[in-house]
Amino acid sequence: MSRFSSSFTIADDGVDPKQVPRRKLYTGAEIPAIGLGTFGSDKYTGEEIAAAVVGAASVGYRHFDCAAVYGNEHLIGESLEIIMKGGIKREDLWITSKLWNDKHGEKDVIPACKKSLKDLRLDYLDLYLVHWPFPNHHPPGAPPGYRDPNSRPYIHEEYMTTWQQMERLVEMGLVRHIGTSNMTIPKLKLVLRDAKIKPACNQMELHPHFQQPELFRFCIDNDIVPVGFCPIGSPSRPERDRTPEDTAAIEDPVIVRIAERLGVHPAVVCVKWAVQRGQVPIPFSVRRAQYLSNIRCTITEPLTEQDMKDIEGIDRNCRLIKGQVFLWEGAKSWEDLWDPDGVIAS
Ligand SMILES: NC(=O)c1ccc[n+]([C@@H]2O[C@H](COP(=O)([O-])OP(=O)(O)OC[C@H]3O[C@@H](n4cnc5c(N)ncnc54)[C@H](OP(=O)(O)O)[C@@H]3O)[C@@H](O)[C@H]2O)c1
Repeated sequence: MSRFSSSFTIADDGVDPKQVPRRKLYTGAEIPAIGLGTFGSDKYTGEEIAAAVVGAASVGYRHFDCAAVYGNEHLIGESLEIIMKGGIKREDLWITSKLWNDKHGEKDVIPACKKSLKDLRLDYLDLYLVHWPFPNHHPPGAPPGYRDPNSRPYIHEEYMTTWQQMERLVEMGLVRHIGTSNMTIPKLKLVLRDAKIKPACNQMELHPHFQQPELFRFCIDNDIVPVGFCPIGSPSRPERDRTPEDTAAIEDPVIVRIAERLGVHPAVVCVKWAVQRGQVPIPFSVRRAQYLSNIRCTITEPLTEQDMKDIEGIDRNCRLIKGQVFLWEGAKSWEDLWDPDGVIAS
């Protein structure tokens, strides 16, 4: 019996999952155009998140974005079992998980994936991502100044060793698609050149104040579906991920004005914009009213062309998840992780 909930029913006020838009991957498979994030930002417990997974499925979510490092896959596994026992078929769910930075070693990838599968109580994942392209050890909750002396920059040959194991997972039938996360155009170009199985998705930070237009376009042009994390600008992110320069999309006058016109929270405008632009947002929430309004907005009247233009105009190039804890010895600043000059920093 579950520790947080024992039954699953379809909610009367939910959204019909068949109406939720989907994006086609290069394999022909379709991913629901919105997913529920499951990173608790040190603020929400695994139990609260696992309960939200069941609640979200009952209001129409079929896509859940998980990761080993979130430390809650064993609880989400209980939720998925409840959902499937409640009548939702496995093939109607889309479950993503991610390989953590300390499991890039050739012999570590397959066991790490098997552990996520065991925790999630699944036979296969729909998508498995390399969470970050940098191998390192990073204790949970490490402060911004923390540095692992063994951290390394992106070394393409090493990444491809990891990637070949990701490809093995597809060949073994444990994973349907593989993908990247926190990548840049120069890194992705090399992966596309050398991969036997190309990435189906790239997970990247995307919100109205950080639209990454070049990387977004690169993904679309290469038939890689962009999955957008922090779609609301991660207002509950941990202190270690905050700097004084950060801006908040949900406080932007353009977003607030559209939200007032539509009678919704500004967060909902961010989600609506994301789906309409063509990325797959994975907003997090444990609050029913929030996750319900986030999925409902994917099936209501679209934003106007003018709204879309106005939101395009408020990009501030404001990266929130800078990744500074992954810097290696000799790196100058967090910007080195993101190849701002188009050259891979080493
Ligand atoms: N690949 C990666 O490296 C990476 C990095 C970061 C995140 N992710 C994934 O992306 C997911 C989403 O990112 P995130 O959780 O950082 O940020 P987010 O989805 O942008 O923001 C989540 C927060 O927004 C608020 N919110 C959500 N819906 C709302 C609504 N309808 N109305 C009002 N407020 C609303 C909630 O705040 P309150 O808590 O105040 O209610 C919630 O905690 C994560 O959970 C994780 O799965 C991946």
